[in-house]
Amino acid sequence: MSPSIPDTASRRVEFISLSHLNPSTELEPVASRGIDLPYFRRYVRTLEEAGYDYTLLPYGSGSADSFVVASAVGQLTERIRPIVAVRPNTAFPLVVAQQLATLDQLTEGRAVVHLISGGNDAEQARQGDYLPKAKRYARTSEFVDLLRRAWTEEQAFSHAGEFYRFDDFGPGFRPYGDTIPISIGGQSDEAFEIGGRQADVFSFWGEPLADIRAQIERVHAIADAAGRPRPRIWVTFRPIVDRTDELAWRKAYEYAEQIGRTFERAAYGKQYLVGKGTPQNVGSQRALEFAARSEVYDRALWTRTAAVTNAGGASTALVGTPETVAAAIVDYIDVGADLVSIRGYDTLADAREYGRTVLPLVRQELAHREATGQRGSLQAEHPGAFAPGFDADALAGVR
Ligand SMILES: Cc1cc2nc3c(=O)[nH]c(=O)nc-3n(C[C@H](O)[C@H](O)[C@H](O)COP(=O)(O)O)c2cc1C
Repeated sequence: MSPSIPDTASRRVEFISLSHLNPSTELEPVASRGIDLPYFRRYVRTLEEAGYDYTLLPYGSGSADSFVVASAVGQLTERIRPIVAVRPNTAFPLVVAQQLATLDQLTEGRAVVHLISGGNDAEQARQGDYLPKAKRYARTSEFVDLLRRAWTEEQAFSHAGEFYRFDDFGPGFRPYGDTIPISIGGQSDEAFEIGGRQADVFSFWGEPLADIRAQIERVHAIADAAGRPRPRIWVTFRPIVDRTDELAWRKAYEYAEQIGRTFERAAYGKQYLVGKGTPQNVGSQRALEFAARSEVYDRALWTRTAAVTNAGGASTALVGTPETVAAAIVDYIDVGADLVSIRGYDTLADAREYGRTVLPLVRQELAHREATGQRGSLQAEHPGAFAPGFDADALAGVR
């Protein structure tokens, strides 16, 4: 690997992790779907102390309400920024603008919103949304415009669009700062169009490097053509780490079996269940295609965890020592990722462990680059699956 840093490499990188409300995990599901307040409090404070920058509060028709949880995160922490997952079908855009501005004021400028257009027709119908997906994305586009206008217009305004109509609104309740970052989730063509033209952040689940590189170029090209700043790029992984690569691969195989059993029994209360058939959302379809092609990609990407969960939600893993996983994250930073979301399968313990090891290793490499203009040694010294003759099965002791 050449010591020079690629032009595509991000210089400023921040970390995200999803917040869990109770101790239930895919490894050890607990029947309750409620909030265990002492656990949740410990979880978000752990994320803050471990050095994460943001925490995602996901949304599903049967989940806790992401806004109320985000507000609690704001009050339980000082620094970490809550990312509220919002489905535009659930509330009128001006009301969401008001809720977000309120959250932003209550957290002195920490609010972020992640817009989910809805990846599954049956799940959307549970809350009365019967629009087909392409229309749902068109609605998201109008929604984004209205959020921004509600936050910035100095005078009252009226609107008559395809999905929303109102008269004489404003000026609305203002965010703490100038605006609130808007992230778009989804991999459909429509998601790219809207994300490239309107989003501040565009998000992915973990894909092989070559595929993510192509996807990032696609978002950038759309933003460039629209004459807009390029959205920041968010990539999500589920790392599985241990003291040696060998121990990590053993753990990974054990985890995949346990997780597979959990999903077979459908005992895990997933927020946006894709079920057993072919998922309707493109992100999950892509994850399953990668899994069908190969289990291991690049330095540490592993797809069996996606295969055994039908890729319902973020499910692609990075496997290895903290150094190997940190080096793999830097590979993604090299192709343009600048928001890295990591959440383990042993959720709370892993959040703490990544904070102790993975985050500082990535930050150390970036600090080295900043100071010297050259790559550090992390990627060269921890090749993971790039090593000649690498064989995950043999390492895990199953061959
Ligand atoms: C980082 C990330 C987080 C996501 N969080 C949620 C969520 O909280 N709730 C949800 O229903 N979908 C969530 N999704 C899923 C997609 O945004 C969703 O399936 C999309 O609306 C439609 O998918 P498609 O465009 O890939 O077909 C998330 C996706 C990504 C990449």
